Amino acid sequence: MDEHIRGAQHVNRVGASRFLVEPPVRVLGRLLIRSDTRVGCFTEFGQHVELQAADVGRFSEIGNNSTVGATGHPLTWMGVSAFQYKKATWGWHQAAADSEVIDPEAGGRQSFRSVGPDRAWIGNDVWLGAGVVVLRGVTIGDGCIVAANAVVTRDLPPYTICGGLPARVLRPRVPDEIRDELLDLRWWRFSPNQLAGIPFDDPAAAVTALRPRVEAGLEPYDPGFVEIPRPAPVKRRFFLR
Ligand SMILES: CC(C)(COP(=O)(O)OP(=O)(O)OC[C@H]1O[C@@H](n2cnc3c(N)ncnc32)[C@H](O)[C@@H]1OP(=O)(O)O)[C@@H](O)C(=O)NCCC(=O)NCCS
Repeated sequence: MDEHIRGAQHVNRVGASRFLVEPPVRVLGRLLIRSDTRVGCFTEFGQHVELQAADVGRFSEIGNNSTVGATGHPLTWMGVSAFQYKKATWGWHQAAADSEVIDPEAGGRQSFRSVGPDRAWIGNDVWLGAGVVVLRGVTIGDGCIVAANAVVTRDLPPYTICGGLPARVLRPRVPDEIRDELLDLRWWRFSPNQLAGIPFDDPAAAVTALRPRVEAGLEPYDPGFVEIPRPAPVKRRFFLR
């Protein structure tokens, strides 16, 4: 599995959630996956990241302690507690063993839980600073940078630097004409090998260098998605004395 992902031992999954990556992907510390999730190649996760109902594009950097696709608890019910809709949370205790739950998705209702189509999308070449919270259903455009501790409640446009509570555009990341060129070229379709020699530290020069390669028919890097299996359970040994 090492050829697909670095740090697979840090990935934790809730229930039967599947973790599909387009290799390679790197995980520096605990990553919690709460629903079936797809992550694009060359994306790197910091420590203590939680993906609840979200997918992530290519070449993105997800800062420590970020929570993406956050859903939650009912806003409009009698209470916020999970005892009302999930037996497993409290049913183990005798005072809740006979409780009855209400299905939050009954009759096709939009659920507040981490299921359903209303997922967040973190684009390609996105940097989430530390402690960013991205709410469910939000799209973060390609090339967007989100400042530390922002709470993203609405879609953020590509190639902007955004921050605050709620997150708003602070300024553009690059001039408009370079943004348009980058969005047109979509450099993240290619692997670092294919991008060798491009002057990355100068976006205008990078566009000029990459365009002829693309027009000459450079084939996008397409490794496909692979499922990262759960780690084998640790075998416990018991010795008789
Ligand atoms: C987004 C970021 C990269 C912007 O860097 P920058 O452009 O050098 O920022 P500046 O210091 O010039 O600030 C630009 C403006 O944005 C504001 N701003 C910067 N960071 C902000 C934040 N986290 N929340 C709200 N506003 C912020 C500044 O106050 C400033 O506003 P002003 O022009 O009204 O004074 C940086 O603020 C940041 O959050 N980096 C993340 C660091 C991090 O989390 N690293 C670990 C994870 S990998």
